[in-house]
Amino acid sequence: MPHIEVQDLNKTYGDGEDAVQAVRHAAFVAEPGEFLALVGPSGSGKTTLLAMLGGLLTPTSGRVLIGDIEVHRLSGRGLARFRRERVGFVFQGSNLIPYMTARDNLLVVAAISGRVTNEARQRADQLIEELGLSRRARVLPARLSGGERQRVAIGRALMNDPDIILVDEPTASLDTERGQQVVEMLRQEITSRGKTGLMVTHDSRMAAYAARILAMRDGMLTEQG
Ligand SMILES: Nc1ncnc2c1ncn2[C@@H]1O[C@H](COP(=O)(O)OP(=O)(O)OP(=O)(O)O)[C@@H](O)[C@H]1O
Ligand SMILES: [Mg+2]
Repeated sequence: MPHIEVQDLNKTYGDGEDAVQAVRHAAFVAEPGEFLALVGPSGSGKTTLLAMLGGLLTPTSGRVLIGDIEVHRLSGRGLARFRRERVGFVFQGSNLIPYMTARDNLLVVAAISGRVTNEARQRADQLIEELGLSRRARVLPARLSGGERQRVAIGRALMNDPDIILVDEPTASLDTERGQQVVEMLRQEITSRGKTGLMVTHDSRMAAYAARILAMRDGMLTEQG
């Protein structure tokens, strides 16, 4: 079963003369282990599409299936649970909690879902090691480099063992070399763990790390190549 299936998905903000059709008739399928890039100009609807996939935004019409879950039908507690258990987000600017160490920024995910078990601690430490952060684990975000912060954000997104990882502009604030390191790490985590990843980027060098490239223009989605 594919991890992501989107059918005739639409999002219109506002109504009447002010209506903005941010996403129009979007459709695609992505399988476990696939890493896709999402490119397109500013305002073309990339973040809107990502938000609907992750259950942060309700579609105007159409269907979003994540595994066997019909996300477009969820609301309230079901939706909250879907976001907590199935989705990992990496937002632009990483959004780490400033007064918590790198390691605690991962453990907070377990705390939100219930309790910080030994299993959760082991998982956090393993991710920290895989992401090359072992020596920075006890440091506050303000003391980390931009690339290190983005790696912590990737680790946090993987903490709940999600099916899908949604990433909005992970490298905007990084130089090319660090940006490539972050994206390569993300690609490795996604393919080796059988997740499905969708990464928004403006940078064609970063998009080249993805096996498939989806392009947005004026709310319309097409596949490149
Ligand atoms: N909450 C909102 N209310 C009204 N219009 C919105 C809202 N959010 C986004 N839009 C509009 O929808 C369109 C798509 O926005 P979106 O944020 O999805 O674009 P984007 O491709 O992510 O752009 P960027 O690359 O600049 O982040 C834009 O025209 C934007 O102005
Ligand atoms: Mg955006």
